[in-house]
Amino acid sequence: MNEVKITVDGATHAVPEGITVVQAMWHIGREMMHDVGCLGGACGACAISVRFPGRFDNQCYLACQTPVEHGMTIAFMPSDASKKEIAPLPRTEPAEQVLFQYYPETRRCVGCRSCSMVCPVGIDVMGGVRAAIAGLHQDVADRFTNCVMCGLCAAVCGAGIRPHRVGAYTRRLTGAFYEKEATQLLERINEIASGEYQDEWNTLLSSELSDAREEVLNECT
Ligand code: SF4
Ligand code: SF4
Ligand code: FES
Repeated sequence: MNEVKITVDGATHAVPEGITVVQAMWHIGREMMHDVGCLGGACGACAISVRFPGRFDNQCYLACQTPVEHGMTIAFMPSDASKKEIAPLPRTEPAEQVLFQYYPETRRCVGCRSCSMVCPVGIDVMGGVRAAIAGLHQDVADRFTNCVMCGLCAAVCGAGIRPHRVGAYTRRLTGAFYEKEATQLLERINEIASGEYQDEWNTLLSSELSDAREEVLNECT
């Protein structure tokens, strides 16, 4: 088995090639009581800052989704500590300004782009904040669709803005007031109806998978 060397908290360890950073932590005996949750890239608990050899900038990733690479230096980032507002939805279609009732600091954005640089899932966070300032709630909601609420964008913002919470609020607004049809679901249904996934269906229903399928069905009944 090939090994790579990684550095965590100042100590260098040899770990198997091809595993994720979370698996590497288990391999070296780190308990991981914190800094890990879903293991599927969805909960944002495992944010890390990584420096690669020969580079002087840090990159942020999700440890459960990131394979180890030789020479990487890893620091686990603290969990989201930003204050969560109690921000109820308005009773009628929201005015552009409703967001600032709960997140007034959003307008202090100085356009430094630090939040976008740090986002481990590649969201243009600053663009989302600028759209929020412009009152474009649906645009903000779209931009934050993949947000895993790790809180790194808020942690680095010198203006005290909490972009992820702004994103979450606009997604709630959008769900409540703007989207009347599940457009993505309808698109997918149309794709299925037009035969776009027929090959995958055929594979799924093929004889070589039938045993596994029977096994699953037996377990479920
Ligand atoms: S880090 Fe804060 S101030 Fe800088 S662009 Fe992002 S939201 Fe604006
Ligand atoms: S937008 Fe902020 S909270 Fe959401 S994934 Fe990016 S850095 Fe994390
Ligand atoms: S453990 Fe949930 S995103 Fe990594």
